[in-house]
Amino acid sequence: MPATSLDQVVSLCKRRGFVFPGSEIYGGLANTWDYGPLGTELKKRVQASWWDTFVRQKPEMMGIETAILMHPNVWEASGHVSNFGDPLVECRKCHARPRGDKLLEEKLGVEVVAVLTLDQVQPMMMAEKIPCPECGKCDWTAAKKFNLMFRTQQGVIEGEGTDIYLRPETAQGMFVNFKNILDTMRPRLPFGIAQIGKSFRNEITPGNFTFRTREFEQMEIEYFVAPGTEEKYFQEWLDATMQWYTDLGIAKERLRIREHTNEERSHYSSRTVDIEYHYPWGWGEFMGLANRSDYDLKQHQEKSGQDLRYTDPDDATKKFHPYVVEPAFGCTRTVLVLLLEAYTEEKVKDDTRTVMKFHKRIAPIDVAILPLSKKEHLVAKAQELYKKIVHETKLVVDFDITGSIGKRYRRQDEIGTPLCITVDFGTIGEDTAQGAKDTVTIRDRDTLQQERVAIGEIREKIAEAWRK
Ligand code: GAP
Repeated sequence: MPATSLDQVVSLCKRRGFVFPGSEIYGGLANTWDYGPLGTELKKRVQASWWDTFVRQKPEMMGIETAILMHPNVWEASGHVSNFGDPLVECRKCHARPRGDKLLEEKLGVEVVAVLTLDQVQPMMMAEKIPCPECGKCDWTAAKKFNLMFRTQQGVIEGEGTDIYLRPETAQGMFVNFKNILDTMRPRLPFGIAQIGKSFRNEITPGNFTFRTREFEQMEIEYFVAPGTEEKYFQEWLDATMQWYTDLGIAKERLRIREHTNEERSHYSSRTVDIEYHYPWGWGEFMGLANRSDYDLKQHQEKSGQDLRYTDPDDATKKFHPYVVEPAFGCTRTVLVLLLEAYTEEKVKDDTRTVMKFHKRIAPIDVAILPLSKKEHLVAKAQELYKKIVHETKLVVDFDITGSIGKRYRRQDEIGTPLCITVDFGTIGEDTAQGAKDTVTIRDRDTLQQERVAIGEIREKIAEAWRK
C-alpha cells in the first residue's frame, strides 16, 4: 500500500531530510519547498533515469539547457501572453478570488467543467449555488482569465528596465533553438530535443505539498516528426512514458490515461492526453502528452522573421514545418509520486515499521555501513570498508554511527536504503560468536533477512540484490 494521506509523507520528508518548508527560519514562505540531502539525491536520480532513458539511449534525441529568462517576444509568439491563465471569479461579499472552474469541478466533476467556456463559469456557479470557501455566501462576479506568468524587470534602474517573464515552461527554449539544432547537428526527422529545468507559474491555488507550486522543475521533450506521422509517435511516447513510470516501481493500477476534451486543451494543442496518478486526494494530472502540430514553429517564424522550416535532406526543394509531439513531465511531481508510492507502514512482530520501498534504482542511498560500536578500531575497519565500496562500485553509501543499531536500522528503513552492512566484533576477529573474521552482516530492507558474508563477496551480494 502506498501512503494513504499526504501528511504521512510530508512529515517523513521533514523528519528525515527529504523536503523542508522554504525559508523556514523566517516562518516560511507559503508553498515553497527546499530539497534536503535525501530529496536532492532522489531528484537527481529521477533526472538521471529520465535523461538516460529518453536522451542517451535514443540516437535521435539531443539534450540542451536553455535560459530561464527569454526575449519577451517568445511569450507573445507562443500565445502565453494572451492565453495562459486560469478563470478567476471574485466573491462580491468578501473579495476572495478562487478559481471558478475548480469549485465547479469539486461539485460536478472534471468532465462537466472541461466543456464550459469562460462566460459560462459564473452563471453555472450561481445556478449550482456554489458557496465562497471563505465566507460561505454565493455572489460571484463574471470569471476573468488571470495570467500565470511571473513578470519581472531586466535592468538595474527601477522602472526603466524591460519587462520580462520567468519561463512558465521549458518547451519554448527548445523551439527557439530549433534553427541552431538544424544548423549544427544536421538531424533527420524524426528527432527530438529534451531539457530538464525550472519553470515558474504564479499559480492561484498552489498546494498539496509539492504537487502544485509556483517554482517547479520540468522534464520536457519536443519530438519533431513529418506531418501525418504524429499519431504513430504520439502512441509510441505514451507507451514509453508508461513503461518508464512502471520501471520506476509505480503501480499500474494507480496510473490512468485521460484524453482532454476540445474545450480543455491548451491553446497550442490539437490533441492532449494526461497520464493521471491516484493521489491520496484522488485522481490528478501526473504528466501531459500533446500534439502541438506546427503551431510553435510557425508562430516563432512569423514573429522573428527567421526561416524555421526543415529541409528534406534527400530533396532540398521540400521545405516544411515539422509537427511536434510533446511529452511534458513534471520532475518535482515525479519525485512526489515516488515518495507516495514508496511509503509503507507494516507490522513486524508487535511493532509497526515505516519503510520507504523505493525501487533500488532510485533509492537516495544504495548501501549503509553501520559499525556496531563507536570503538575506534571497529570504526576504522568500517571506514575502510566504506572507502572500498565507494571506490569500487560508485554507489551512494551512507556511513551511520549515531544511535543504537536498532534505531539506525529504523532510520535506514525510513529513508529507503535497500541494504545495510553491519561491521561488528566478529569482523575484526574479536568475537567469533558474532561471526568469522572479515565477514559482515548484510540486511535486506524488504525481507529483513540478515546474511553473514565475507567482505570479498560484498560486491557480488550487492549485484545479486540489484538483480532481484
Ligand atoms: N510544455 C507543456 C506544459 O508545460 P503542462 O501540462 O502545463 O504542459 C507539464 O505541464 C507538467 O509539468 C505537468 O503534467 C506537471 O507534471 C508539471 N507541472 C505543471 N505545473 C506545475 C506546478 N505548478 N507545480 C508542479 N508541477 C507542475
